[in-house]
Amino acid sequence: MGSDSRPAAARVSAMLVPATKSHLTSIVRIERESFTDPWSKEAFVGMIDSPLALFTVALGDHGGVIGYTAATSAWEDGEILSVAVENVARGKGIGGQLLDAAIFALKEQLVARVFLEVRESNAAAIALYKSRGFTQMSVRRSYYRRPVENALVMRLDLTPK
Ligand SMILES: CC(C)(COP(=O)(O)OP(=O)(O)OC[C@H]1O[C@@H](n2cnc3c(N)ncnc32)[C@H](O)[C@@H]1OP(=O)(O)O)[C@@H](O)C(=O)NCCC(=O)NCCS
Repeated sequence: MGSDSRPAAARVSAMLVPATKSHLTSIVRIERESFTDPWSKEAFVGMIDSPLALFTVALGDHGGVIGYTAATSAWEDGEILSVAVENVARGKGIGGQLLDAAIFALKEQLVARVFLEVRESNAAAIALYKSRGFTQMSVRRSYYRRPVENALVMRLDLTPK
């Protein structure tokens, strides 16, 4: 679907499970291949240990981690902190499944709206978020480092259950 020129790839269904320390090495590998200013391993350990974080990994056919998402909430506001899928597994629906699961979990926590930031050049991520109903709210000038870039702030309103 959509107007991008990606070749059609077979959809795959991943098993989604809570992230644990046994997944850390793979998470850090995917983070480093996905971002120019990656989070540290310690940041991920903090999320695994945090009762407030919804931190989920997607497992491929052989049980290895192929993607992850992290989200959090405070009262009625939810935030998608990160979504990443390993290079070779992209375009097969995994990012969408991870994002859907995070939104579902935030709904369960009675969150009314979900926010996120994304680099304004990150067309794949922006398309993913728009495909799930997020709309652009505002721009944060020079929000990112390495390289410096504006962030788009996006928002999704959740309907009550
Ligand atoms: C963004 C990312 C998580 C998408 O994961 P993915 O598994 O490839 O996404 P999916 O296959 O589930 O695609 C879901 C939707 O996203 C959009 N999309 C994904 N990749 C796209 C691309 N390269 N170009 C255009 N649209 C794209 C499409 O709308 C797609 O819907 P479709 O099923 O109708 O085609 C992945 O590209 C990634 O890990 N990027 C690096 C990390 C990153 O930038 N994370 C976001 C930080 S804000």
